[in-house]
Amino acid sequence: MPRPSHEGREGSRRHGEYRLGRLAWRDLPEVAALERAVFPEPLPLPALVRLRLHPLVTYLAARPAGGGPLAAYYGFEYLPDGHGAHVLANATHPDHRRRGLARALVGWGLELARERGVRWIVGEVRVSNTAQIRFLEVMGWETAGRIPRFFADGEDAWMVYRRLD
Ligand SMILES: CC(C)(COP(=O)(O)OP(=O)(O)OC[C@H]1O[C@@H](n2cnc3c(N)ncnc32)[C@H](O)[C@@H]1OP(=O)(O)O)[C@@H](O)C(=O)NCCC(=O)NCCS
Repeated sequence: MPRPSHEGREGSRRHGEYRLGRLAWRDLPEVAALERAVFPEPLPLPALVRLRLHPLVTYLAARPAGGGPLAAYYGFEYLPDGHGAHVLANATHPDHRRRGLARALVGWGLELARERGVRWIVGEVRVSNTAQIRFLEVMGWETAGRIPRFFADGEDAWMVYRRLD
């Protein structure tokens, strides 16, 4: 597993052959395309633009260091109370999976949130999404409960959370 080399808390960092950084405006069409490819209910580009504009939202992205299409991203929002955060989405392009990109991006996001005094983060995961459930377990997340018909197509969600203190 490549270890990230730190190049600044708010800037960019390396993860093996990838460069991680804040999601740029030019990345948004690729995020929308990846959402369409992997999610049953993808966010359309205008919704992503609104989120990217929101001051409480952070999106992180990974690209091959030598250039190339978006490999992975992770978005989350700080809750107005200052103590909590909420996952928007994370996805890794199928060509770049099992290289630690989700671990690196979500881990970086947790660092950023912790530095802002956030004490917990929550998310919702489809009960059928065994890859994400396993990933979150490995990352130390816990399950709070099952939410019936959380998704628009009627699928239940596991509410998941991670303490940051
Ligand atoms: C789930 C997902 C984000 C994982 O991304 P990834 O970059 O491949 O994950 P990582 O390489 O960082 O995996 C870290 C660890 O999580 C676990 N893990 C990741 N994918 C897994 C899978 N498909 N099955 C079992 N465990 C998995 C493993 O323990 C892995 O470590 P290892 O590779 O050393 O065994 C990716 O499969 C994906 O994009 N899925 C579609 C989108 C999605 O469902 N997003 C979540 C909903 S918001």
